[in-house]
Amino acid sequence: MPKNVVVLGTQWGDEGKGKVADLLTSQANVVVRSQGGNNAGHTLVVGDRKVVVRLVPSGIMHKDCQCLIGSGVVVNPVALFEEIEELRQAGVSDAEERIRVNGSCSLLLPIHPAIDKASEKARGKGAIGTTGRGIGPCYEDKVARRGLRVGDLFHMDYFEQKLKALLDYRNFILKEYLHAEPVSYESVMESVMSYRERLLKMVADVSDILDRSRKEGKKILFEGAQGTFLDIDFGTYPYVTSSNTTAGGCVTGSGAGPLALDYVLGIAKVYTTRVGGGPYPTELNDDLGEHIRQRGKEFGAVTGRPRRTGWFDAVAMHRSAVLNSLSGLALMKLDVLDDLDEVKICKAYKFPDGSVSSLPPFSAFDYEGVEPVYETMPGWKSNTFGITSWDELPEKARAYVRRLEELSGVKVAILSTGPERNQTIILEDPFA
Ligand code: GDP
Ligand code: IMO
Ligand code: MG
Repeated sequence: MPKNVVVLGTQWGDEGKGKVADLLTSQANVVVRSQGGNNAGHTLVVGDRKVVVRLVPSGIMHKDCQCLIGSGVVVNPVALFEEIEELRQAGVSDAEERIRVNGSCSLLLPIHPAIDKASEKARGKGAIGTTGRGIGPCYEDKVARRGLRVGDLFHMDYFEQKLKALLDYRNFILKEYLHAEPVSYESVMESVMSYRERLLKMVADVSDILDRSRKEGKKILFEGAQGTFLDIDFGTYPYVTSSNTTAGGCVTGSGAGPLALDYVLGIAKVYTTRVGGGPYPTELNDDLGEHIRQRGKEFGAVTGRPRRTGWFDAVAMHRSAVLNSLSGLALMKLDVLDDLDEVKICKAYKFPDGSVSSLPPFSAFDYEGVEPVYETMPGWKSNTFGITSWDELPEKARAYVRRLEELSGVKVAILSTGPERNQTIILEDPFA
């Protein structure tokens, strides 16, 4: 039986999942998203075309690939159809026919971004720095069992009744607690009716498609969104997103069984970035951090926000390897560090009481006063952009990669030297 591969972020998101998922999809028949929503922004660069997908799985650029949106994803249909239109303009005319959405996906409605933005405003200095897309409030409604689901659109009487109850509750909070403008029932219904029929044609049983695909010998790629330290349980809570971004989320959010995952490929930059608030021990708040931001073009694919930048954190990576059962690593953006005199790797955290640990804490509060303990290596000071073979890499760059591998405890399968598919060194084929 062919292998199924998971591609997920091991840091704080934006590791380059889109590039790797797109690259590996040349071999996969099916790509499935299992969590998150249009807070994700995955960049695909094919020749001189650059496409950013948010809800649509990154397999969409490959014409025979089926793209599935599993139950754990929160779906904003307006955003989905906008994206399908952008894809059409980029030359992908059959996206709508190739994308299938599970009926149990939560529907992200206009009330959710309204709550998200008003809640962030109310948090003031303690704001999480969300993408403002309504992701958190939509998951809240899901687990509170008052949310609406894509499949509810088949039963409009039931849908309208549930929507009224949801808006009664949410508008009360918006007005009385958050002092923001309510969202009218009529405006939500107008939005819903604008896409209802089109969306219902895309509904399918994703779990069954995955099961049949597997039995037919097709290769499946599970595409993660966000990153391990944004996981609702294991991230730097409360500065996290509202879903399980770790490997388990691929199972619960897709409807594939746990034994359907054969290889977990962890994506990591050879440095780190983070968007939004929250602890970040290796952050560089100086000229070097700015240099990495500019060279790495570290600005959000969804919100355009400047990403915070810092050194590689092997403490976090080691935890990530455990949480995700990583089989291999894809190390990205080696070229961005090309011109540095030296490079640093964080290999332990020093806590304010003087203790040193190689285990990261589970809550933001416990990161207070944490200092990174660094190991310094010489920079390679030469161009690696676009290099496609390991042997062509400068020796010092190879040493850096090998050290990251050693400290992470996971072998490097893929090394990326540029944004395009072919700017890649493949050391191990995850599907083989
Ligand atoms: P994702 O959310 O994990 O899919 O990552 P994003 O697309 O948000 O951010 C990754 C960015 O890095 C994108 O702009 C990619 O085109 C770019 N990128 C990916 N790999 C490389 C690489 O090896 N070198 C360089 N210079 N850019 C890369
Ligand atoms: P991809 O898939 C980076 C961050 C936000 C914020 C926190 C909560 O492109 O890697 P949310 O809107 O999810 O409630 O915001 O999570 N965040 C991301 N950061 N990449 C992402 O997605 C992200 N999706 C959410 O910046 O800190
Ligand atoms: Mg991104």
